[in-house]
Amino acid sequence: MTSKPLTVVKCGGNPAVDAAGICADIARLVREDRSVLLVHGGSGEIGRLAGRLGVPQRTLVAPDNVSTRYTDPDTLEVVILALAGAVKPRLIAELARHRVPAVGLTGMDCRMLRAQRKSAVRSVVDGRTVLVRNNLSGRITTVDTGLPRTLLHAGYVPVVSPPAIDEHDQAVNVDADRAAAALAAALGAEELLLLTGAPGVLADPDDPGSVQSSIQISPTGAPDPSARGGMALKLIAAREALAGGVGSVRIADGRIPEPVSRTLAGAGTTVHISRAESPNHSSREREIRR
Ligand SMILES: Nc1ncnc2c1ncn2[C@@H]1O[C@H](COP(=O)(O)OP(=O)(O)OP(=O)(O)O)[C@@H](O)[C@H]1O
Ligand SMILES: [Mg+2]
Repeated sequence: MTSKPLTVVKCGGNPAVDAAGICADIARLVREDRSVLLVHGGSGEIGRLAGRLGVPQRTLVAPDNVSTRYTDPDTLEVVILALAGAVKPRLIAELARHRVPAVGLTGMDCRMLRAQRKSAVRSVVDGRTVLVRNNLSGRITTVDTGLPRTLLHAGYVPVVSPPAIDEHDQAVNVDADRAAAALAAALGAEELLLLTGAPGVLADPDDPGSVQSSIQISPTGAPDPSARGGMALKLIAAREALAGGVGSVRIADGRIPEPVSRTLAGAGTTVHISRAESPNHSSREREIRR
């Protein structure tokens, strides 16, 4: 735990997300003497940069509907350039404009986010499940809280993104929502806000009016049939955060004015784990809590 209550905010990489609004809200929280850690993705910028550099992009869809980015070596380079070279400096500049002392980091710094590479991942191609190899992505196994704790104690706002670092001390792509969840759990955050390009978790992904104010997800297995693609992964991240002891997790709209304040005031979807015995600290989550 940091001495002040900690809020972890994840800013989605959809270009419609109001990053400037999120930064202005973070400045307000900091002025109110709260600790804030900002995690960001960058799917929009990664796609744009990959297009400019001529690096083809491929999405892997797992049998449970969760989609992830296929990360070959060229794509990993694009991911690092986009996140650490474009999205993060913009966020740091915006926070600086509000006089927030922000420090940009990736999960590699001080080996903060350690991940194990998945040697092969299952993906559905033309209705058949196949094994895809040479994927430079992985799953977070350990969070070293030393660096973010030191920064938070000293009043800085860490701004963190993938990649993580693997068992051979090489960069490895990880999902930004799950990185936010792992950090929030390991740092004992009071709340995790996942701000994205949707108004919350929709009962019908094609109906923006079908926001669910709360959602119960099972402790294991596929999260919810209504959630596809990046939202399915977001629910998995939310579950990991709650199981790791984070007080509350909300998935909400990052495109509206004052997105953080509105989410703290109740906008979006609150995620709960169904079943009385949650949070269940599985061995992996205990390892992540460190
Ligand atoms: N049931 C659902 N409710 C809301 N959004 C959904 C649902 N199912 C699928 N989605 C899609 O999931 C998207 C959110 O995940 P996505 O990974 O695209 O964004 P992000 O995580 O905020 O950005 P990044 O991955 O760059 O960090 C929504 O914008 C929407 O298109
Ligand atoms: Mg995503």
